[in-house]
Amino acid sequence: MSDDHDHHDGNADHELRVSKIQDGTVIDHVRGGQALNVLAILGIDGSKGEEVSVGMNVPSDRLARKDIVKVEGRELSQDEVDVLSLIAPDASINIVRDYDVVEKHRVERPAVVEGVLSCPNADCITTDGEPVTSRFEVLDDAVRCSYCETITREGIAELIDTN
Ligand code: CTP
Ligand code: ZN
Repeated sequence: MSDDHDHHDGNADHELRVSKIQDGTVIDHVRGGQALNVLAILGIDGSKGEEVSVGMNVPSDRLARKDIVKVEGRELSQDEVDVLSLIAPDASINIVRDYDVVEKHRVERPAVVEGVLSCPNADCITTDGEPVTSRFEVLDDAVRCSYCETITREGIAELIDTN
């Protein structure tokens, strides 16, 4: 049996691998491998009946491989978009109403995030029990604690305060 599928041409064929949504948000051009972190940031685990489609490592023209998350019936807040920008800096947010994209914007990385991440350094003043709100400067490919200057490059998603 010879069944040679060619998975190399990144054209419209692949775009509809995840079907269109009626109303909600499409988070497109997410870095490959980050889709589950996007869901975690949005507090989506399927337990509340959320209607969500996820594509992982889909061919893309802008990125080598991208993830895509489609959330039915929900538009994201600016705070959520700010946090998403930390792990998906190239993402575009598409607001869909009645099947049409009515708004499209690239995420913007804020210069600083406060109260959003927790410092991985157990001796940091923000984690040792003092009532100090965390503050991180957002660098190109990392975040830096403003108090202890610890730099986190990999695993930023794990620092996200999910309370
Ligand atoms: N989309 C969707 N449901 C809709 C409309 C659009 O899931 N009812 C998805 C598309 O599949 C695409 C994204 O939303 O992944 C953006 O749609 P569109 O702007 O039409 O696509 P492009 O022009 O290819 O977007 P871009 O230039 O940002 O890549
Ligand atoms: Zn710190």
